[in-house]
Formats: sequence, C-alpha cells, structure tokens
Amino acid sequence: MSYSDIYAAWQGDPEGFWMEQASAIDWIKPPTKALFDEKAPLYEWFADGECNTCWNAVDRHVEAGRGDQVAIIHDSPVTHSKHEITYAELQSRVASLAGALRAKGVEKGDRVVIYMPMIPEALEAMLACARLGAVHSVVFGGFAANELAVRIDDAKPKAIIAASCGIEPGRVVHYKPLLDGALAVAKHQPEFCVIFQREQEVAHLEEGRDVAWHSFQYGVEPADCVPVKGSDPLYILYTSGTTGQPKGVIRPNGGHMVALSWTMKNIYDVEAGDVYWAASDVGWVVGHSYICYAPLLTGCTTIVFEGKPVGTPDAGTFWRVIEEHGVKILFTAPTALRAIKRDDPKGEHVGKYDLSSLKALFLAGERADPDTIEWSQKLLNVPVIDHWWQTETGYAIAANPLGIEEMPVKLGSPSVPMPGYEVHILDEGGHEVPNGTLGAIAIKLPLPPGTLPGLWNAEERFKKSYLTHFPGYYETGDAGMKDEDGYLYIMARTDDVINVAGHRLSTGGMEEVLAAHPDVAECAVIGVADKLKGQMPMGFLCLNKGTDRDPDEIVKEVVKMVRDKIGPVAAFKLACVVDRLPKTRSGKILRGTMVKIADGEEFKAPATIDDPAILDEIKGALSQIGYPAAKAEAS
Ligand code: COA
Ligand code: AMP
Repeated sequence: MSYSDIYAAWQGDPEGFWMEQASAIDWIKPPTKALFDEKAPLYEWFADGECNTCWNAVDRHVEAGRGDQVAIIHDSPVTHSKHEITYAELQSRVASLAGALRAKGVEKGDRVVIYMPMIPEALEAMLACARLGAVHSVVFGGFAANELAVRIDDAKPKAIIAASCGIEPGRVVHYKPLLDGALAVAKHQPEFCVIFQREQEVAHLEEGRDVAWHSFQYGVEPADCVPVKGSDPLYILYTSGTTGQPKGVIRPNGGHMVALSWTMKNIYDVEAGDVYWAASDVGWVVGHSYICYAPLLTGCTTIVFEGKPVGTPDAGTFWRVIEEHGVKILFTAPTALRAIKRDDPKGEHVGKYDLSSLKALFLAGERADPDTIEWSQKLLNVPVIDHWWQTETGYAIAANPLGIEEMPVKLGSPSVPMPGYEVHILDEGGHEVPNGTLGAIAIKLPLPPGTLPGLWNAEERFKKSYLTHFPGYYETGDAGMKDEDGYLYIMARTDDVINVAGHRLSTGGMEEVLAAHPDVAECAVIGVADKLKGQMPMGFLCLNKGTDRDPDEIVKEVVKMVRDKIGPVAAFKLACVVDRLPKTRSGKILRGTMVKIADGEEFKAPATIDDPAILDEIKGALSQIGYPAAKAEAS
C-alpha cells in the first residue's frame, strides 16, 4: 500500500485504523473502542483498555525468546566505557528497582522525578515507574536547580531518582548538589531520594532522606507489572511555553504504545532485532520516545550515547558508533550535523568507518536547512529525512514514511502529514489559506493516540494555549505552509519559544530572569540566527533611571543570572543595553523587527510603531556587540 492509500484509510475510518494498530501491543484487557470523546474538546484514547508499558517494552520480549538480545548499549566516550544490557537483564534490574520503590511506598499514580544523565539507569528508572503505574517526570540535566525546583513543585513527586553526577566535556555536572539546591528552594519535598552513585563523583547522602540505588534494592521482592488504564498517564514532560512556568505535557500509556509502535514500522522501517540510535538526551521528548520507549516496545537494541557529536573525541564519533554497533537508523538534530560539518567539512572521518548497516538518517527538533541535508546525503549515501514534531505530540506529525514508501524528498520540507494528523494552514481568523501562503499551522481535533490529552494540573492553560484560538483545532505554535503536493514547510514559531541547538527554550522565561536584576527596568529577549545552533537568545536591557553602573558589568551579571536560574542549556551569552525598546503605540514590544535588524534582514518599520527613531538606536546598540555586520563576516 502507498502512503496515500494508508492516509486515506485512516481518514475514512480513524477509529478502525487505530483499533487495528492497537493489536501490536499486549493488553491485559483490550479496549472496547478507540476514541473517548465525551468530554470534547478533551479526548482520550483506549481509555477502557488495561495495559502496562513496561510489560510491552521489556517482559514480553523475554517471554517471546529475546531475553539474550541486547536491549541497551551504553556507549560513553566521556567516561571511556561501553556496556550492554540484555532484555533478560533489563527485566530483572527494572523489576528489582520497581520492587524497592514499591517497598518505600511508591504506588500507581504517584509521581517520581528523574534527574539523570545519559546512563542506562535513567531508562531503568523510567521503566520501573511504568512497571508500577507511577508517573515519571524526567528533568534535563542542563537545567539549573531553580528549574528543577519549579518542576518538583508542579509534579509533587513522592520520590526523586537522581545520579550523583553527569559528565560534560571538560566539566563534571554536579547533579546531587543541584538536586539539594532545588530541594532547598522547592515548597514540595519528596518522601525520599534514590541516588545512583557514579564513580566519577560520589555524592553526600542526606541521612533519613536519601538512599543509595544499590543498597535500597537489597533483599526486596521484585515487582510485577501493575495494570493501568489506557488513558492513565505514563509520564509528565515539562516543556517551554511563553512564560517561565513550563508546561507539563501528559503522555498516556495506551495510545503512546500504539502510536510509537506504528511509527517504528511505518516511518523508521525497523523491526525487532534492529539497532536504533537516537542521539538525543532522555531529558527531551526525542529521548523519551526514541531512546527509551519506541525501540524497546519494538524489541530493538537502543543506544544510550553519553557524548557529543564533536570533541568526544572528534567529529568521527557518530560514524564510529554506527560501525561498532551496527546502527540501522540514526536520529539526531540538524545542529549536531552542523557541528560535525564545521569540524570536518569534507567528511574525512566518514571514510574511516564501515557504515553499511546504516539505512537512513532522520532529523528533527528544529528546521533542517537544505545545506545540512545535502551535505549529509552526499556523505552517507542514505536517505536523509527531516520530520516535524513536538513534545506535545510525542512523535512525528509530518514525515517521509520510509517503512511505507520513500516519497520524493523536497529540501526544506519534513514531507507529508502522518495518519492521525489532518494539518491545516490558517489565517488569523481561522480560514484556510491557499497553498504556498504562510499561516498558522493547526491540526484538526481530535489529535491521534499518544499525543497530549492535557497539561498536568492545568486544564485551563491547556485549552487557552492550544484549543481556543482556532476552535476545533489544536494550535501547534508553528507557522508555515503547504505546497500543491501536500508537503509541509515549517518556518517559524508564532510564540515566544526559540530553538537553540535543538533545545526548546522560552524567551519569556529568560525575560523574567533579566527583569529580576535590580538595575533592569525593562527588557526583551529575542532569538537571533546562528550558523551552528540555529538560534541563539539575545537580551536587550533598559536600565533604571539614574543607574550609573558600567553597562558591561550589568550584562555580565544578567548572563550569569540566566545560567544560574535557567541553566547552561539556555546558552544565554548575548545582551546589550539600550535606552528604549521599540514598541507599538499600544505598548507591544516589536520583537519581530528586532530579530530582523539583528539578522541583517530587510525590514520596514511597522505602521503601528510608536517612534521609528528607536530602531536606529537598536541598530547602534547591536553593532556595538558585532551585530549584524561582524556576525555576517564570522559565519
Ligand atoms: N547537562 C548539563 N549541561 C549540559 C547538558 C547536560 N545534559 N547539555 C548541555 N549542557 C550545557 C553544555 O555543557 C553547555 O555549557 P557551556 O555553556 O558551559 O559550554 C551549554 O549547556 C550549552 O549546550 P549546547 O547548546 O548543547 O551547546 P554545546 O556547545 O555544548 O554543543 C552541539 C553544541 C551542537 C554539539 C550540541 O548542542 C548538540 O549535540 N546538540 C544536539 C541537540 C539534540 O540532540 N537535541 C535534542 C532534540 S533532537
Ligand atoms: P520540542 O517540543 O522541543 O520537540 O520542539 C518542538 C518545536 O521544534 C516545534 O514546534 C518546531 O518549532 C520545532 N521543530 C521540531 N522539528 C522540526 C522540524 N523538522 N522542522 C522545523 N521545526 C521543527
């Protein structure tokens, strides 16, 4: 069957389509129907089915005779180590960890925050929660203590599972002290913390609160899989919205398994026994879906890579991993390839490795620029496939479904909508725009199985953020267009979210930090174009009247504040002091115009601008920090 046959089959009978896909997983009690729309516009899938995600990701493969197959390969150039865990080992490790958590009171529905680097124990912790029906919330290691505290206060976990440390090139990330710092400011306190001690840094354990990963498992009875409803939450993953308060995206158990299983076969063209590698981090949605759950649900071998595309030790690392482990599919962010290309423009490292196992390279997380796609295609000689998705959806909205048919690649487009997604391009008033015209990208409700049914503890925010602007649709927050063949082009965000090195960040959140500086009266943060990271945040500060301090000092202080409050991952390094911010007469900051000035693009002063002279002041302040002229020369 072709892509269009399958898409049409879904459109003709969406519920029948998903009920058929549901047979790919083991149900304790099969669902009687697919969609539960009684509370529309809030929807649930497979709500009356009973299942367990850990069973489907681990135990059933052991039962089916795959116990000796490697489930997880940890390849860690930063610690110079590699090791493998089979499905049978994974089963006993996860059952033991789950048993220990249960012995300390963790039950179905309890939340558990996981704060760990790229080690297999992070996946084991996720699976142990899934085994018990507990809801995990993994927090990315590049966030500062304050961001961790915000998530702890929102999720209210009974337990926190953390590692003693992570390793970034050239420095140790002190996870445990960061956790202690977060707990010192969080209002909510967990009943206990489980600490996995790494040999690179052994952390102090707080008597009465912290237990050690190994010793707390001593003598406990391993836990069996606990049945949960298809609509029960598997995890909460916080992602950036327009403010500093992150959105807790809920992922349900049943639909998630069904949808991910469908994508593995139909988008990535993999099956049990294949080696699948998503070079991301468990703290992001790509890590949840394609390092942990989807490969394991499919019976693949997944790679947990603790390193960087360059510098660990060189730009050939990715190719080494592919050769050494026989990787069939590599999934990464375009920024990683841009980093490799910058270090090794001619791709000389590629020639040193046998990449014959590699069948395709998938890219997501940010717009894949045509240059990067063409460079990778030429070098690797396999299809390079851009696909578009979000934390909220958990898997691709648009892709080139390799497992169905390889459709012609159009550079700059993540190809076509996947079954489940009816994508529309709308104008401000919610009317469909003609092909080739830019508009807001919206998806007709209901969203398919596995996508977010809501935000944790924030139903009104969910409705306001996604469902209100275009009634009957989910608003993606992305702008773009469709061409005459139905290919989508994702061009920009319509909100204050920026994408830095494939990491989703809120400029609003950064503005909240800058505004807290005692000398800052007003501020704005925008995303400016960056050759390597796609975008970089840049801050504009207006100082309080009478402030006579050196502006450079203030800039240094706010840079440090963002690093300390949000974390190094914000990569906030650029800021300048201006007298005024450009605004409309109604007081709205003209961020779009500021971006154009910084990027050296043509721009026209908007008709609504309060005082056009401010734009020259902005230009002047930017040129003092090398924008856009010096930047253009550097790239
Ligand atoms: N824990 C702690 N700190 C982290 C971290 C983690 N897990 N991940 C990143 N950081 C830190 C980095 O060390 C860096 O700190 P520094 O300011 O002290 O140098 C900072 O956060 C910014 O990191 P990053 O934006 O990743 O830049 P980089 O210069 O370290 O690396 C790339 C650039 C392109 C190599 C890297 O961003 C990359 O591999 N990106 C791929 C992104 C990806 O996979 N995204 C997932 C979506 S698919
Ligand atoms: P995240 O939730 O972190 O996965 O970020 C989702 C956002 O990243 C999307 O809303 C887009 O803005 C952007 N994005 C992800 N994948 C792509 C892609 N293939 N092309 C363009 N933008 C993308």
